[in-house]
Amino acid sequence: NLTTPLETSTSPALKFSVYSRCSTTKARASKMQLPHYTASTPMFMPVGTMGSIKGITTRQLEALDCHVILGNTYHLGSRPGPELLEKAGGLHKFMAWDRGMLTDSGGFQMVSLLKLANITEEGVEFENPHDGKMMMLTPEMSIGLQNSIGADIMMQLDDVVSSLTTGPRVEEAMWRSVRWLDRSMQAHKRPTEQNLFPIVQGGLDERLRTLSATELVKRNAPGYAIGGLSGGEAKGAFWRMVSLSTDILPTNKPRYCMGVGYAEDLVVCSALGVDMYDCVFPTRTARFGNALVRTGSLALKQGRFKDDMDPIDRDCDCPTCKTYSRAYLHTTVTKDTTGCHLITVHNIAFQMRLMRDIRRAIIEDRFPSFIREFMQTRFGKTV
Ligand code: GUN
Ligand code: ZN
Repeated sequence: NLTTPLETSTSPALKFSVYSRCSTTKARASKMQLPHYTASTPMFMPVGTMGSIKGITTRQLEALDCHVILGNTYHLGSRPGPELLEKAGGLHKFMAWDRGMLTDSGGFQMVSLLKLANITEEGVEFENPHDGKMMMLTPEMSIGLQNSIGADIMMQLDDVVSSLTTGPRVEEAMWRSVRWLDRSMQAHKRPTEQNLFPIVQGGLDERLRTLSATELVKRNAPGYAIGGLSGGEAKGAFWRMVSLSTDILPTNKPRYCMGVGYAEDLVVCSALGVDMYDCVFPTRTARFGNALVRTGSLALKQGRFKDDMDPIDRDCDCPTCKTYSRAYLHTTVTKDTTGCHLITVHNIAFQMRLMRDIRRAIIEDRFPSFIREFMQTRFGKTV
């Protein structure tokens, strides 16, 4: 059934084709043709910083069947830096990655990491961590940087407030994000080679989310993101905002839920019609010695694993599980970085396998029973 798409959209640098739809949820399985690669969705995109995914090489990411990776403009703007990137011929060449790449605009990272950021209508003002000088990141500068990075998908600079914020600040940020989108679209110099995605904002307010999504759809972008979520709000409120957004966003274009990576959220949001995800969680938690499994995660630093000769997961075919025991990982993760690398490989393999399983279940028209089994394994009684 992967011959004639049910629905497509064609933009200069992106073609999206929906091949299967779940009959009882909003889930769909699609192909997204990008300048560098054709990705299968729903998909998870591992996050890189400084042009490399911590603890893993681009060759390993290929071997793990990763289709698109994420880079951050905030880190890339300082080092390697735009001059070096231009010299290298873009970030793809610099990191020897020839598949899909997406870059975030940098504002979210500055606001969430630096806390010293100051938002004005012009842009985000922040203290440069390298020299302590105040700097301004405008929508135009973010697009300029992302144009020199050369990713397949770029994100608009948005005004992000915590999902726990209430009051007039939420509406102000939502409308400012719309104005910054218009400035970003004006500044985009490579529309036939790179895609610019707008970001739905509006906190946990149904009216504001509706207004935001409706306004962005008018801009006829190649794809859309849902932002400002997964920041400590209740799951129900988070999922409701996602569902409301996917009801408004076009069905023939990709939807990307930013900063989402817990397995249950990937399953639920895919049922709500989301196609793309990214999150630092799988790689970050690996560095703390936590290995992801379908029942949750294994804290491999715990003493109970010190002579456990099983792999992390018997059913996982990743290089770590095929080669090493939990006992070996327990020993190395507390002594040096080898264990961290090996767990990172497994955790990315886990995310990729979960997404493959979701795609297959949608294509084979058994996604609802997949969800039931998944939830039972994860939250039901384990004997
Ligand atoms: N990463 C996670 N959430 C967001 C968001 O709302 N905006 C941006 N730009 N990046 C994000
Ligand atoms: Zn594994």
